[in-house]
Amino acid sequence: MLKTKDILDEKDKRLRLTSKEVTFPLSNQDKKAIHDMIEYLTNSQIDQLAEKYDLRPGMGMAAIQLGIPKRYLVIVHEVGEEEFDTYVICNPKIISNSAEKIYVEMGEGCLSVNRDVEGIVPRYARVTIEGYDMEGQKIKIRAREELAIAFQHEIDHLNGILFTDHIDPKYPFKDQDSYRAI
Ligand code: NI
Repeated sequence: MLKTKDILDEKDKRLRLTSKEVTFPLSNQDKKAIHDMIEYLTNSQIDQLAEKYDLRPGMGMAAIQLGIPKRYLVIVHEVGEEEFDTYVICNPKIISNSAEKIYVEMGEGCLSVNRDVEGIVPRYARVTIEGYDMEGQKIKIRAREELAIAFQHEIDHLNGILFTDHIDPKYPFKDQDSYRAI
């Protein structure tokens, strides 16, 4: 079972790598990593288990956050009381996006960033993503609002980008009125 300390911290330079596309079939190591990521993200959003196993709550993780420089990510989206939609996507690409941009009013978070960061991260309100499932079958996902932000955040990780990179430290709330808060 994955532990919080297994997740790379923002100071770790590996988070700056551009991850490489995966080929199929996935290795057993990659399958295990995906399983571990799903388990961690799900448990971390169930209060009792998060406390029991000392997990930081999070809805998304990219492989590089475990030190694996490969292009796959997992998102576990809470859609009801302890009810989750789980997404696994390999080699994801955003193929279309809305003109409208939004941001998380409370501030975006990341399992690799262990501090509160003030400021606005503009993200597309809606995105369509293409990629492959664990078996190598092509998949297409349409995401909006919080889920759309999660995909953009995780795809950034595959390119060595952290959410904090999008925030101007001098003007963390720059152009706030141009975007819709969620
Ligand atoms: Ni993150």
